[in-house]
Amino acid sequence: MKKEGRTLPVRREGEICYEIRLEQDFEKLAEGAAELGTEGRKICIVTDTHVGPLYLEAVRERLSGVCSRVTVYTIEAGEDYKTLDTVRGLYEHLILEHFDRRDLLAALGGGVIGDLTGFAAATYLRGISFIQIPTTLLSQVDSSIGGKTGVDFDSYKNMVGAFHMPRLVYMNLSVLQTLPERQFASGMAEILKHGLIKNADYFQWLLDHRQDILERKPEALMQMIEESCKIKRDVVEKDPTEQGERALLNFGHTIGHAVEKLKNFQMYHGECVAAGCAAAAYLSWKRGLIDESELDRICGAFQSFSLPVKVGRIDPAKVLETTRSDKKMEAGRIKFVLLQRTGCAFVDRTVTEAEMLDAIKWITEE
Ligand SMILES: NC(=O)c1ccc[n+]([C@@H]2O[C@H](COP(=O)([O-])OP(=O)(O)OC[C@H]3O[C@@H](n4cnc5c(N)ncnc54)[C@H](O)[C@@H]3O)[C@@H](O)[C@H]2O)c1
Ligand SMILES: [Zn+2]
Repeated sequence: MKKEGRTLPVRREGEICYEIRLEQDFEKLAEGAAELGTEGRKICIVTDTHVGPLYLEAVRERLSGVCSRVTVYTIEAGEDYKTLDTVRGLYEHLILEHFDRRDLLAALGGGVIGDLTGFAAATYLRGISFIQIPTTLLSQVDSSIGGKTGVDFDSYKNMVGAFHMPRLVYMNLSVLQTLPERQFASGMAEILKHGLIKNADYFQWLLDHRQDILERKPEALMQMIEESCKIKRDVVEKDPTEQGERALLNFGHTIGHAVEKLKNFQMYHGECVAAGCAAAAYLSWKRGLIDESELDRICGAFQSFSLPVKVGRIDPAKVLETTRSDKKMEAGRIKFVLLQRTGCAFVDRTVTEAEMLDAIKWITEE
C-alpha cells in the first residue's frame, strides 16, 4: 500500500505563500506544478552532475506533461560552483531559450542548487517563479524553506543574495536513499539543532529512533523531516526576513561557521554546526543554564549520529577572530544563541570574547 504524503502550508501575512509537499516518489509533482499554472509555460530544471543522472529523467517526465517545454541546465556538483559565473551561464541559457516572466525554474538538487537557482529566479527579469525539489537531507529540512537564496563571492559564503520565496517545495524522501553517508550525517546536525532550540520531546524522539533513522526507514524519515520542516516553517513564518526569531536557527553557527572557514570547507557544514552546537551548549552549561549531564547528553547525541563535537587542532584565537567577521554581528556585539534548556533557545548579546574563547578551546582541545 502506498504511504500517504504530507502537505505543510507556509503562510505570509496570514495568506498561504507556498506549500511544502513531502512524498515518497515524484508522482504528485506534475499535479503540484500544474496547480501553479504551468500550462503553456516553459520550465528549466537546474541540477548538478551527481543528481542529474539519478533523478533528472523522472522529474523531466513529470514536468513535460504540464509545461509547454522543459529545458535542463546542469552544473558541476559542489559548493565551488555556487558562483556568479554559474548564474551568468544560467542567464544565458534562459535568454537563448527565450524564457520570459511567466516561465519558471526548478531546482533539483541540494542546497547549492537550491540557493543558486533561487537567486537566478530572484534576479532574472526582476524575478520569475521557481520550484524547489530538494534532494539532500540538509536542503529538505533547512535550505529549501524560507526563501533565502544566494551565491558565494570569492571566499565569502552567501555574500550576494536575495529573499525570494519558492512557489512550491516538493520533496521526494526516497531520494535520500542514495545520499552519501557523510552528507546524511551533515543534515542530521541541523535536525538535532531543531530539537535543541525548539522541541525537547523531538530531540528525545530522535535519540529513541536513531537506529531507524540511520537505516533510513521511510516512515522514520517522514516523521522526522515533517517535524523539522514544521520547526523551520514556524520560525520563518514569524520572521520572514530575519529580524528576530529566525536568529535562533543560528544556534551553533557562529563558532560553526568560523571553524568551517578555517578548515577551508574540508569539514562539512553539518559537522562544523555539530561542533558549534557543542560549544554553545558548553557555554550554556558554564552560565548555569543547563547541567553537566545535559551537556553530555547533547554531545553524545551528535556523536551517535556520526557527528564530531571536537574539531581537532586549530588556533582558538583564530576561530575567535573569524567569528568577528560573521554576519551575526549587530552594532559590534555578537548575537550569540544559548540554550535556556533543551528545547528552548534565546539570543544573548552579553557573551564576552573570553567566554567564547573558553568554549572554542573546549572544542579544539584533544
Ligand atoms: N538558503 C538557506 O536558507 C540555506 C540554509 C542552509 C544551507 N544553505 C546552503 O546549502 C548548501 C549546502 O547544501 P547541501 O548540504 O545540500 O550540499 P550540496 O547541494 O552540495 O549537496 C551535497 C552533495 O550531495 C549530492 N547529492 C544531492 N542529492 C543527492 C542524492 N539524493 N543522492 C546522491 N547525491 C546527492 C550533491 O550533488 C553534492 O555532491 C550551502 O551552499 C549552504 O550555504 C542554504
Ligand atoms: Zn546550517
